[in-house]
Amino acid sequence: MISYRLLSDYINFLYHSRGKKGFGIHSPFVFQLVTQVVHSSVSSTIFTDIEAQRKLLLKDSTPLDVQDYGAGSQHLKGTNRKVRELAVHSLKPAKQAQLLFRLANHMKSQNILELGTSLGITTCYLAKTGHCSKLVTLEGCPNVAKMAQQTFKKLKLTGVDLVVGEFSQTLPKVLDGFSTLDFVFFDGNHREKPTLEYFEHCLKKKNNQSLFVFDDIHHLPEMKEAWEQIKANPEVTATIDLFHLGLVFFKKELAKQDFRVRF
Ligand SMILES: C[S@@+](CC[C@H](N)C(=O)[O-])C[C@H]1O[C@@H](n2cnc3c(N)ncnc32)[C@H](O)[C@@H]1O
Repeated sequence: MISYRLLSDYINFLYHSRGKKGFGIHSPFVFQLVTQVVHSSVSSTIFTDIEAQRKLLLKDSTPLDVQDYGAGSQHLKGTNRKVRELAVHSLKPAKQAQLLFRLANHMKSQNILELGTSLGITTCYLAKTGHCSKLVTLEGCPNVAKMAQQTFKKLKLTGVDLVVGEFSQTLPKVLDGFSTLDFVFFDGNHREKPTLEYFEHCLKKKNNQSLFVFDDIHHLPEMKEAWEQIKANPEVTATIDLFHLGLVFFKKELAKQDFRVRF
């Protein structure tokens, strides 16, 4: 159920945000990103294959014993879940997953990290981007990770490094293996303190072109607070709040400014 707070935040967001034509956005970089990448109608056969796999997962009633290390699901309780329930509640919808694909392509991201694999759908989108040369995805639950591996196999993705374990244990070691991070998708453990810790760890490997994407920045009060602190970080320049996703840029040539854009 949508909470009153979330609904009121969304109405406030709609009132203060820019539309898809980018009117009122004076940064040429952000204007181009919003009009050509965020709001793009370009489709791809890549999307068809991944979405066909999502459909199979949505019908899959295999039971899974799930360990949840994160903030916990607002919809799913207990540890016994079905694959299809995870597919409904844990995965980013196609619209947002395809946006991640377009963003990583636009930024020509080579070194990509994802925190929160689940069944591997967003990982598949990231793996199919044109410049990706290294992709690591982190998942805490071994049974869920096994399902993601099956998805990668079905879609013939060979270059994905899926690391199983609690983020606080796996992230520092995984980061040692990256010379730099071009694209990071933070999509697990939607709590303030851990999110800020993961962010601080990843900051050490950012470059001028890096893009960090945070999921669900308005959904829980803890994530709202984390988002405020991320925006305020002195290393961060432009940020784009798309309500469900938050985009963070470090380009020194950009002024520090927050944009709210409807998506
Ligand atoms: C929202 S799902 C990821 C969905 C996926 N990115 C997609 O849209 O296709 C988040 C995943 O992160 C994992 N997770 C959450 N907190 C974690 C933690 N502290 N350590 C390891 N894994 C964690 C959960 O097990 C869950 O599978």
